[in-house]
Amino acid sequence: MSTATNLPAQSTPSAALPPELADRLKGTELPDPLGFGRLMAPVMAIAYYRDGAWETPRLTGLDPLDLAPHTQALHYGQAIFEGMKAYRNLGPSFPGSNTLLFRPYEHARRFNRSALRLGMPEIDESLFVGALEQLVGTLDTLVPDRHGQSLYLRPTMFGATADLSVVPSTEFCFLILATPSDAFFTAPISAWIERHYSRAGAGGTGCVKAAGNYAASFAAAAPLREHGFQQLLWLDAVNHTHLEEFTAMNVFVRWGDKLVTPPLSDTILAGITRDSLLQLAKPFGLAMEERQIEIEALLDAIRSGEDIELFGCGTGAVVAPVELLGDESGLRLKLPSQSTAADLRRRLLDIQHGIDPAPDDWQWPVITSPNGSDS
Ligand SMILES: Cc1ncc(COP(=O)(O)O)c(C=O)c1O
Repeated sequence: MSTATNLPAQSTPSAALPPELADRLKGTELPDPLGFGRLMAPVMAIAYYRDGAWETPRLTGLDPLDLAPHTQALHYGQAIFEGMKAYRNLGPSFPGSNTLLFRPYEHARRFNRSALRLGMPEIDESLFVGALEQLVGTLDTLVPDRHGQSLYLRPTMFGATADLSVVPSTEFCFLILATPSDAFFTAPISAWIERHYSRAGAGGTGCVKAAGNYAASFAAAAPLREHGFQQLLWLDAVNHTHLEEFTAMNVFVRWGDKLVTPPLSDTILAGITRDSLLQLAKPFGLAMEERQIEIEALLDAIRSGEDIELFGCGTGAVVAPVELLGDESGLRLKLPSQSTAADLRRRLLDIQHGIDPAPDDWQWPVITSPNGSDS
């Protein structure tokens, strides 16, 4: 059933941005309000995997891909992605750079873990980060300036073989898309405890960024929207008794002077923000605890007025405090307003913007390309 290649002919990456792409960039302005995904950058990075090897990624226009209707990813979901950000450099440490990527090698490593889990080829970390640098360096005028705003980056890989057999692709497409992003969840959010559906099962794909994980959450999100809630809070798939994570954020509870989060497992994504907060929390006088959190014990403790904050964290939201918990039984539980989540959010954003120093490799300076949008 396997067919001839589904990929376009290979083209050589060029150091200079083709004039047609430079023109597209010149005609592109940041939207007002900025929002998220309102403007897709007109340039993206692309590379194909063919004959057992990755091409060097190159920049191209954000144009439709020419794919056969029986392209593998459309049928069997062999698709993964990353979500990461480039921030305007607002600090003194990297004077030659307008923009800082946040922990790009961590994202490259997680991308490769996702690839392996879905039977896809890894991509060399330096190709992955090099493509990000090239794209972000070119898109300099699309990196917004304000604290908390960013250029959101979406590395993606999908199985591109045109073949209806239930076997892994042999050809793959790697893309990096970009969209300017406003800070979001700047006010406390409401979270809906999902008591019926599950996000991830043991031995499944919950610990990687498989596209299908997110499709599987869409039906569960419908009641949440009907009731005016913003985020799904998932419980474990076996008993529905313990917190796992939000749909695109890890979960933390500040319980007195302890910062508690569920331990990583094959049902929880190893969030890079989660890891960053665990490293940053010490100076806040908080003891870290990675342990199971029982939902009923948490609700009882909130009801009895214990000193508790609940928040989510992830690349998109950074840190998002929860002010209201609800569920299908009619539970509506308010959480008092507190400051640790907001303090952690500010601390992390200051690092992401280069205002404060950070551990090695967290801030990754990008040099603006002379071919880029300010040329
Ligand atoms: C399921 C899930 N959990 C947690 C996170 C947070 O991960 P990170 O902090 O790396 O963005 C994300 C977002 O990528 C996610 O999709």
